[in-house]
Amino acid sequence: MTHPHADNPKVHLVDHPLVAHLQTELRNTDTPHGRFRELTERIGQLLAYEALRDAPRKPHTVNSPLEPYEGSQLVGPITIVPILRAGMGPATGMAQLIPESQVGHVGMFRDEKSLTPVSYYVKLPADIAKGPALLVDPMLATGGSASAAVHVLKQRKCTDIRFLCLVAAPEGIAKLAGDHPEVPIYTAAIDRQLNDKGYILPGLGDAGDRIFGTVE
Ligand code: PRP
Ligand code: URA
Repeated sequence: MTHPHADNPKVHLVDHPLVAHLQTELRNTDTPHGRFRELTERIGQLLAYEALRDAPRKPHTVNSPLEPYEGSQLVGPITIVPILRAGMGPATGMAQLIPESQVGHVGMFRDEKSLTPVSYYVKLPADIAKGPALLVDPMLATGGSASAAVHVLKQRKCTDIRFLCLVAAPEGIAKLAGDHPEVPIYTAAIDRQLNDKGYILPGLGDAGDRIFGTVE
């Protein structure tokens, strides 16, 4: 179940005991890399399930062994777009949940001093604009990376962009919602604030380093 955020109905806080349980383990500094990665995959699946609750579909009848069944079929391709590199964690789980999906990649890192996003890679399916694009990153901190990635998808004519993250800061929500008010945000948690280095408090540290074991 999602609760639209009081200030903005486009912000969906995925409020579920399983999500709360998993993200508590995720935040624990004692959680090793392999388990951390697995947790991002699992939470990514639960977020995607909620983010597709109103996915476009059309009637589709199949023959069951006993009689015809009037069911439904998703309309258009579903494209999962991780913001590299940390987005690869939840995106891996999401692609397992939706095997029919296609996957595009947007490479973005934050300049450590200015905290502004630096784009270094874009590879997207040609027909991405024909269906929902699930843009995913574990962290929405200043919101610079997410906002720039949405801009990339809009340049490819995407009109159904949904942003999914594990932990959001109020500052990041304000930035993304300000730049792209029509884009819904699905998050497992809304934390308190950013620190002076742009890290989310209480947060979980550096998501990419914890997923890939690259702590310097
Ligand atoms: C992290 C995170 C987001 C970004 C969030 O990536 O995965 O992409 O920071 O910060 P923002 O909201 O202030 O832009 P990072 O730059 O550490 O790159 P990485 O995924 O390669 O580790
Ligand atoms: N990126 C991260 O990985 N963690 C934060 O807290 C902020 C940005």
